[in-house]
Amino acid sequence: MALNDVLTPKQAEVLHTYLTVPFKMMINVGAVRAGKTYIDNILLMYELRRVANLAKKRNDKHPQFILAGASSGSIYNNIIAELSRQFGLDLRPDKHNHYHLFGVDIVPVYTASIAGLSGARGFTSYGAYVNETTLANREVFNEIRNRCSMEGSHIICDSNPDIPTHWLKTDFIDNHDPVAGIITYTFTIDDNTFLDPDYVTSLKASTPKGMFYDRAINGLWVTGDGIVYQDFNKDTMVIDDSEIPDGLEYYCGVDWGFARGHENVITVMGDDPDTDITYLTDIFSSTGKYIDYWVDIAHQIQEQHGYNINFWCDSARPEYVSYFQQKSINARNADKSVMDGIEYCSQRIKMGKFKILRSCAKPFLDDVFQYVWDPVKGVPKKEHDNVMDSFRYGLFNQHKRVENTAINSIYF
Ligand SMILES: Nc1ncnc2c1ncn2[C@@H]1O[C@H](COP(=O)(O)OP(=O)(O)OP(=O)(O)O)[C@@H](O)[C@H]1O
Ligand SMILES: [Mg+2]
Repeated sequence: MALNDVLTPKQAEVLHTYLTVPFKMMINVGAVRAGKTYIDNILLMYELRRVANLAKKRNDKHPQFILAGASSGSIYNNIIAELSRQFGLDLRPDKHNHYHLFGVDIVPVYTASIAGLSGARGFTSYGAYVNETTLANREVFNEIRNRCSMEGSHIICDSNPDIPTHWLKTDFIDNHDPVAGIITYTFTIDDNTFLDPDYVTSLKASTPKGMFYDRAINGLWVTGDGIVYQDFNKDTMVIDDSEIPDGLEYYCGVDWGFARGHENVITVMGDDPDTDITYLTDIFSSTGKYIDYWVDIAHQIQEQHGYNINFWCDSARPEYVSYFQQKSINARNADKSVMDGIEYCSQRIKMGKFKILRSCAKPFLDDVFQYVWDPVKGVPKKEHDNVMDSFRYGLFNQHKRVENTAINSIYF
């Protein structure tokens, strides 16, 4: 069997380099679904073999190797479960959560927060595999590097790209000094020749234009530039009120505010279960109004759309959320994750699954074309963001909840 039957050309190139070129760090970064983890898992097998042989030569009875990922769940899902799919290897953790293969003690290090630092202290490792490196806490990553002090140690990293000023890019990928021994491969989605072409076509068609596309599909280190919701098209997405279908399932987003420029905004949205299209049907926006004013509005919305309707609220004002709850309003703390929420909303917009009624479109249109990325921080500027936050809290959380429920019902 030829190598190209089992590996993509890019993966074959990475493997060839691994086997022939000395290095200290190999960074495989790029697009989603591009085949990075697949080749890294193969490299992990080579690494563990190499470490086992080296330890034998040194009469080291207890060689250790770091397996790092954001959390124990992500290490399991991204690496351990994949090893089982790829190689039929059924690795079980011992009571310390370590794994063992070829006589090598595989030590997990959790990189998502500084709390992982303690797990990365006090031992010497023959090498490390760091999954989702851009999500790693920088100090934890540096500690992993300190552990891999043995001559010939390898650190293998994989990641999706982030903002161009991320430390993985500036300190490591851009470091071309041969002494540093850093080799980087950048993957695009088209590098994965094993993906179903229909899947790739539909992923490209549903990935929002701009930063999300450049990162997820082309594997580039880019920051947001220009307006956030680039695929929003008022000619096709603002519709006449007469076009709204019956039987929508309603929910709201709430962004608290009071002063000028910080409007309080409640957006009302309804999903059509037949077409999966979301209709934004009402926007209540005002400044200088106290909480009882908003309770009255929420009660009107309940009268119109049902008493169980969810109000996904900005959690920064817990006293308002609990006041709503006291008044029999189903107020819930929204997950405010900016990038995840924006990616989700952008995707629905890109897929034509978001429409606005003309009668309430003005405040949305006033903001959507002025809601822009801060190119330095890589997140949207905090301007013209009240309607934008409100609709994002509603849309993202309502669907996130449904999707999580669907996932839970598969596994439990
Ligand atoms: N050489 C290969 N042979 C068969 N299937 C492959 C190969 N390389 C990758 N795949 C499959 O393609 C899919 C994506 O690969 P992989 O998970 O390695 O991508 P990734 O770059 O790590 O993606 P992400 O950034 O989303 O984590 C997986 O289902 C994987 O099993
Ligand atoms: Mg991966």
